[in-house]
Amino acid sequence: MKKEAENIEQFPAHVRQYVIPSYEGDVVYECIGCGETFHLDQFLYTCPKCASLLRLQDRAFDELKKIDGPTWREIFDYRRMLRLEPLKGIFLFKEILFPTIPLADIIYLGEGHTPLVRANAGLSGLAGMEFFVKNDGQNPSASFKDRGMASAISFINYSIRKRGITELLGICASTGDTSAAAALYLSYLDKNIVRSVVLLPKGKVTPQQLAQPLGSGATVIEVPGVFDDCMRIVEQLAERYQVCLLNSKNPIRIMGQKSYAYEVAQQLGYDTGDLTVVVPVGNAGNVTAIMEGFLDLYRLSIIPQLPQIVAVQSRHANPVAAWHASGRYEPMKVRSSVAQAAMIGDPVSFPKVQKLVAGHFREQFSAIDISEQEVIEGMLEANRRGHVVCTQGGESIAGLAKAVKIGLIAKNRTVVVDSTSHQLKFSNFQQMYFENSFPPEYQITPKPELVNKPVQLEASADAIAGFLKLKEKQ
Ligand code: F0G
Repeated sequence: MKKEAENIEQFPAHVRQYVIPSYEGDVVYECIGCGETFHLDQFLYTCPKCASLLRLQDRAFDELKKIDGPTWREIFDYRRMLRLEPLKGIFLFKEILFPTIPLADIIYLGEGHTPLVRANAGLSGLAGMEFFVKNDGQNPSASFKDRGMASAISFINYSIRKRGITELLGICASTGDTSAAAALYLSYLDKNIVRSVVLLPKGKVTPQQLAQPLGSGATVIEVPGVFDDCMRIVEQLAERYQVCLLNSKNPIRIMGQKSYAYEVAQQLGYDTGDLTVVVPVGNAGNVTAIMEGFLDLYRLSIIPQLPQIVAVQSRHANPVAAWHASGRYEPMKVRSSVAQAAMIGDPVSFPKVQKLVAGHFREQFSAIDISEQEVIEGMLEANRRGHVVCTQGGESIAGLAKAVKIGLIAKNRTVVVDSTSHQLKFSNFQQMYFENSFPPEYQITPKPELVNKPVQLEASADAIAGFLKLKEKQ
């Protein structure tokens, strides 16, 4: 490797000593139910004692408090100037992200540090206030899942070396994006050791999403049903067989996804006192990770206070919004949704959300739901104004508009809306809108002014100029 940075000697001394991370922490699995802890020398997804979800906990975290908040900010900001590959992505925040993994084992495929794009006047007008879109579609497999997969696959890479693993089968259930990310990252590892398998609900992922794991060489298994059915199957497989589960139920995924929160803070100059983050929710791994990430920053005084979190769901798959409205959680049967990647009736990470809200976020957390029509038009309106957001991004933007309307988000706040994947993954829904071909269960009626179709003309400048009513040059 080349020199870490041309100018590292010029970094301030109090930053220079920390800028290349050496802290390893004391990370263990911790059960969110009974509190029991387990060593990281195994792959665990639920508590062997009480079957509750696990999270990863750094028992040495308080050591990090020896460095004050302003110094941490400088460390992370100066670190961006390093030329160290493993720290180029989400591991820029290694000490708080997942300190256990040595730099040499980190897999970096270009994930993270996605742009924060200011909405223009037209789109802000529709939402009722100014805001930013953080476009996580600009990740290697075109969704935020790459954040969690970078931490998971780096940990697997480390475990293979450390534990001398000779055979590993990585598996996940997916609505399309987890599978794309898992297949991509697993394909980077040694094929003699690692196999990659994804389980998809047949006909319920888009053609682009299906093409991704196929292209990465994964074994793609399609089964009848919806995501929740696939999830139950991989949960059983993970319980009974030696497979490595790559869904966000695996807390090594959540570690990487915390980077979304760290980046938002860094991009706003850590000035997050009036921040609101709007997030689409499906299996609830993302919203969990975002809350955990902000909590890390808050505990180290890197940010002044926790942000407001607004979770958004389609009414066709709204168990979290229904819980927030009624105080009771009930798994539900989902209906067809254009926010298909979030079409989940019994989110696996819901107990984590419940705990984070009760313990830390309280009234700073809310969850709302919107119609299918609002979701798709959120996407179309944004993309007509300089964005490349997916239907789940559309869900966030339409959710923001509703939240502003009902007074949930004050107009003087700084708002970041999460667009979780790329427009192109969901172009089939755009097409269905333009062709007015949605089956009735979507309850979507296209507005003529939002429809766009190609025009067929003969191959002549005159015909095209005539059609466009062009004025001749003087
Ligand atoms: N947006 C996109 C583009 C997604 O792919 C997902 C989830 C979500 C939002 C919801 O995030 O599940 O963490 O609450 N996709 C998963 C998958 C379920 O299999 O790709 P979540």
